Amino acid sequence: MSDLGLAGKAAIITGAAGGLGFAFAEGLARAGARVAIADLNIDAAGKAARTLVDQGGTAMAAAVDVSDEASVGAMIARVHDAYGAVDILVNNAGVYAGLQRKPFYEITAGEWDRVMNVNLKGPFLCAKAAYPHMKGRGGKIVNVASATVFSGSPLWMHYVSSKGGVIAMTRVMARELGNDGVTVNALAPGFTLTEASRAAIADAENYGVARGAIHRAAHPNDMVGACLWLASPLSDFVTGQTIVVDGGRQFI
Ligand code: NAI
Repeated sequence: MSDLGLAGKAAIITGAAGGLGFAFAEGLARAGARVAIADLNIDAAGKAARTLVDQGGTAMAAAVDVSDEASVGAMIARVHDAYGAVDILVNNAGVYAGLQRKPFYEITAGEWDRVMNVNLKGPFLCAKAAYPHMKGRGGKIVNVASATVFSGSPLWMHYVSSKGGVIAMTRVMARELGNDGVTVNALAPGFTLTEASRAAIADAENYGVARGAIHRAAHPNDMVGACLWLASPLSDFVTGQTIVVDGGRQFI
C-alpha cells in the first residue's frame, strides 16, 4: 500500500536527533508527514531535520527537555505555530544506554528519579501538552516502551520499571481519550542496534540473537513499519495495545 494516509499530517517525534527516533521521523517524512525533530540535543536535531529536508521531506527541529513541563509546552506550541496542527506524537526520547547496569539495591534515588523523569514523566508531559490540539481531530500517540518489560531484564530496574509505566500509562490514556478520536498505543522494541545501544552492550551484533524466532540483530528500520501503522488511519480501531517488535524473542 503506497498511501498510508499520513500525507500532510503534523508529527512530533521526541528524541529523534538519532537512533530509533530518527528512523521514525524519516519513515513518517517519507510517508508525507511534516515532522518535528524534538530533542535535547538541538544541534543534532537541526542536522537531522536538514537531512530529511534534503531528502525532499518537510522537517523542523525543536529544542525540548521532555522532563520539563515548561520546555515541553514551548516545544508543542512552536510546532503548532509552524504546522498549524499536532496530529501525531511519538514519545521516543529516553535514557537507557548510558545507564550503568547494577543490582536494584545499588541504584541511587537520584538515578531512579532521572530515569523516571525522562522515560515516564516525559511521555506524560508531552501527551498532556499535545492532547488539546488532537482532541476530536483523530490524533495518534505512539509511546515507545521496551520489550525488557516482559523479560524483566535484570540490573536495569529503573529503566525497566519506567517502560512498564509507559505501557500502563498507554492503557489509561487510551481509555480516557477513545471517545475523543485519539488512539494511544505502545511500541515495544527488542534490543536494536543504535549508536547508543552499541556503546552500552558488548558484542551488540549478537546480543540476544539466539533467543529470537528470527536469528538476526534488529536495526532501527525494523521498528518503523509498526510506528507508521500505529500513526496512520489504518490502525484507527486499535488502542491501548502494546506491539512488541523483537523478531520473536518473546511472545506476550
Ligand atoms: P538514543 O540514545 O540514540 O536516542 C535517545 C534520544 O533521546 C537522543 O537523541 C537524546 O538526545 C534524546 N533525549 C534524551 N533525554 C532527553 C530529554 N530529556 N528530552 C529530550 N530528548 C532527550 O536511543 P535509541 O537507542 O534510539 O532509543 C530510543 C528509544 O527507544 C528510547 O526510549 C529507548 O529506551 C527505546 N528503546 C531502545 C532500544 C534499543 O535497543 N535501542 C530497545 C527498546 C527500547
